Amino acid sequence: MGLSAAAAPDPIEAAALWLAKGGLVGMPTETVYGLAANADDATAVARIFDAKGRPKDHPLIVHIGGTTPAQWQEGVNHYATEVPAFALALMKACWPGPLTLILPRRADVGTAAAGGQNSIGLRCPNHPVAQALLTACKTQGIWGLAAPSANRFGRVSPTTAAHVASEFPELVQNKQLLILEGGPCDVGIESTIVDCTRGRPVLLRPGMVQNSTLENITGLPLQSRDEAAPKASGTLDSHYAPTARVRLMPLADIQAALQLLGPQTQHIACYTRSPLLAHEYTGPRRHMADQPQDCAQELFATLRSLDQPGVQLIWVETPPPDAAWDGVRDRLQRAAA
Ligand code: TXA
Ligand code: MG
Repeated sequence: MGLSAAAAPDPIEAAALWLAKGGLVGMPTETVYGLAANADDATAVARIFDAKGRPKDHPLIVHIGGTTPAQWQEGVNHYATEVPAFALALMKACWPGPLTLILPRRADVGTAAAGGQNSIGLRCPNHPVAQALLTACKTQGIWGLAAPSANRFGRVSPTTAAHVASEFPELVQNKQLLILEGGPCDVGIESTIVDCTRGRPVLLRPGMVQNSTLENITGLPLQSRDEAAPKASGTLDSHYAPTARVRLMPLADIQAALQLLGPQTQHIACYTRSPLLAHEYTGPRRHMADQPQDCAQELFATLRSLDQPGVQLIWVETPPPDAAWDGVRDRLQRAAA
């Protein structure tokens, strides 16, 4: 009995030790699961790029621990040279939480994670397992964990531990990837990203922290990204894509096309807010939640579940135009591109 207890150490401690050796860990966060490595270990960070098949010049987000400003400030000071007042206001209002800030980077830290940029993306996640892992890492001398979403490049992000295992079966089998169980993610889509290196806040990726919230906190207008922004995976036109082709359409068009096709529609999956009135349609269908928060939470799991053998097309009802749907609309447009 005593032997098996000793052979089964705390999974968080085991994960921190594995990270200290340069290993990869599937880390739950409130947004999506991340594929984590020590952000200051170039060899370990290279394993993330290899596992994902991600281009090496795409910068990764570095996660730092702490639930109070005094705690996360240590991580910020380790990686960033300078924090503009509006960025500090955003941290104080939103951390720990689903917001990533791009800041000027100290030259000697996180170089590989930053993909060669002289800036660094920092996020303090709001998930008890991620926080416990970051605390355990600190005792191993690890300041931050570089973690993109734990999926193969261009694919749908994982929101459960099982999704992560299904993305990297060989790594799991060879014991090169340790996955921490943290339940289904609450937010469901990746963090909102704000570039704070250009004197004013610039939105790089919409998420569930809305533009109006960001503007209220900073008292500044939020600029949208332009060509000066670095190449970044989450901002490529085509991303977050299932194997089946995704198309965004108004409900009436989905309905009309299904009626026209009659019974020849088993290869089409539908994801709509209103019930479909196509009597002969027997393909897989899912109901889209009325609230954007609920839709975001189940979005990636729904796309995965519709991406099944025999399904060639996933027809998704275009989300409402309201700003609250920006994050969901952005992910669906990229899945459809
Ligand atoms: O919710 C999330 O943010 C998830 C979870 C795991 O925390 N992480 C995530 O990480 O989405 P990742 O590495 O896939 O996000 C990378 C994006 C890039 O595509 C880019 O938009 C931005 O973060 N980014 C990171 N570092 C940057 C930098 N130095 N300069 C500009 N953009 C950067
Ligand atoms: Mg991703």
